[in-house]
Amino acid sequence: MIETIDIKIGQTAKSRINELDFDNIPFGRVFSDHMFVAEFDNGVWKNFEIRPYEFLSLSPANTILHYGQSVFEGMKAYKNLNGEAILFRPLDNFIRLNKSARRMCIPELPEELFMGGLTELIRKDSQWIPDRPGTSLYVRPFIFASDDYIGIKPSDTYKFIIFTCPVGAYYSQPVRVKIETEFSRAFEGGVGYAKTGGNYAASLYPAKLAQEKGYDQLIWTDGKTHQYIEESGTMNLMFVIDGKIITAPTDDTILKGVTRDSALTLARDWGIEVEERKVAVAEILEALKAGKVQEAFGTGTAATIAHIAEIGYDGVDYQLPPVEGRTVSNKILAALNDIKLGKAEDKFNWIH
Ligand code: COI
Repeated sequence: MIETIDIKIGQTAKSRINELDFDNIPFGRVFSDHMFVAEFDNGVWKNFEIRPYEFLSLSPANTILHYGQSVFEGMKAYKNLNGEAILFRPLDNFIRLNKSARRMCIPELPEELFMGGLTELIRKDSQWIPDRPGTSLYVRPFIFASDDYIGIKPSDTYKFIIFTCPVGAYYSQPVRVKIETEFSRAFEGGVGYAKTGGNYAASLYPAKLAQEKGYDQLIWTDGKTHQYIEESGTMNLMFVIDGKIITAPTDDTILKGVTRDSALTLARDWGIEVEERKVAVAEILEALKAGKVQEAFGTGTAATIAHIAEIGYDGVDYQLPPVEGRTVSNKILAALNDIKLGKAEDKFNWIH
């Protein structure tokens, strides 16, 4: 564990924790008392500070407001059964943040800065970690360009901030999704694998059109042919057919999900066969028509496991089997919860 940076620690004058109803936590609307901030200038990361959660002050010419040179991460902190604050696989988020940063021409973070700032912030606001089933403290690290300049070039200055947010469920029920064959989320050689704001902004309009037709989200297909399945909404996507998990490989169009990797690692450990390969839309349609899709689910930090209730394609909606009987995704979800709570052995060293 590397936590050697010098952090100036501030303190909010008045905690807002008493305003939080721990029995009724919405997703992503309530923010805890403090945030961690670092600045990049003259080629170095400096000025490490924990300070009260507060608004930022930006010039209208700040490049982030115009060109989107930014990257972010999402992870969760939990309280285990001993009441200790734990983070789930934070080093994987650190590695992915730097991978996204390289693609967006943003200076990478040293591990001790990411892990030191993160650990100190979670310690500081640990009383904000909810412990009701299905709740957690969502952690949002992000880096953004902060030059005031209206030309196009990589910014010379950046800010790295981590704030946290007690959350409940991302989806309140199994989702209805539509296979998208007109709009694209990502292309080979593009930025689909990077966690950067523009990817999410570009998904809003196609998702809105699908929502107007009664769907919750989209299943994205490849940008070139629309014949192969990629992600669903903001999640990686898995199917269970003939008892096997089938999922698209993470290449440059698909985010390398930490929950995705955790689910596949558990499944392989239990002897469930996993196929990471291109998944043709035609193959899934055929399996849906034959009633052979036993389960379909998304994996992601926010949702953990999101069961898919229905898949729409070309005006036809295919119903999937009831969630209660889904042995693979429910077993993965239960195992992840047990590991996070310290009820099951942390065999893969995921807990920090
Ligand atoms: C996550 O699963 O953490 C995501 O990034 C989704 C988020 C945009 C809410």
